[in-house]
Amino acid sequence: MKRIVVLASGNGSNFEAIVRYMRKCNCGIEVEALITDNKEAYAIKRAKKLHIPTIILNYSDFTSKDKYNHALLNKLKEISPNLIVLAGYMRILPSYIVNEFKGRIVNIHPSLLPSFRGLNAIERAYKKGAKCTGITIHYVDEGVDTGKIIEQRCIRIREDEALLSLERRIHRLEHFYYPRVIKNLLTE
Ligand code: GRF
Repeated sequence: MKRIVVLASGNGSNFEAIVRYMRKCNCGIEVEALITDNKEAYAIKRAKKLHIPTIILNYSDFTSKDKYNHALLNKLKEISPNLIVLAGYMRILPSYIVNEFKGRIVNIHPSLLPSFRGLNAIERAYKKGAKCTGITIHYVDEGVDTGKIIEQRCIRIREDEALLSLERRIHRLEHFYYPRVIKNLLTE
């Protein structure tokens, strides 16, 4: 059995899509745990419903960023997953975590990188008047959305499309492709 850990800070819809897909595909991959830096994350509720163990390392309970990251590193070492999956994880991993798990950390970003790195990527692409946007699944390095690209999918932004509609379509794309790319990485 290949084991993955998901790191999420908020809603957790990608986390849920990954858990459901792995259970259905029967491809020898299981989500071992959810780790979150935010005790209010909705992802925690999803994990409970899905019976996935949750590790809460609530960021504001730590006295420094380094203490938080060392606690995270220790948890990750303890679990020693085949793959660490970032899904709406809102912090930058320090180099000592990236190096410890080199090539075993992936992220999803809601734009066609290298365009619209960082926060609010869907909205920024929309407001810029982009004709196309999409999603990128990439390896994680020490930068913000700068790691090697694994997969990209594009969609056209429709004439007169509302931002909410574009957001929905992007998330649907994420929920479809992220689990499948993870599966391919672990079964290739
Ligand atoms: C997704 O749009 C993902 O691309 C970005 O953060 C969002 C997380 O959404 N990194 P959710 O928490 O999985 O619902």
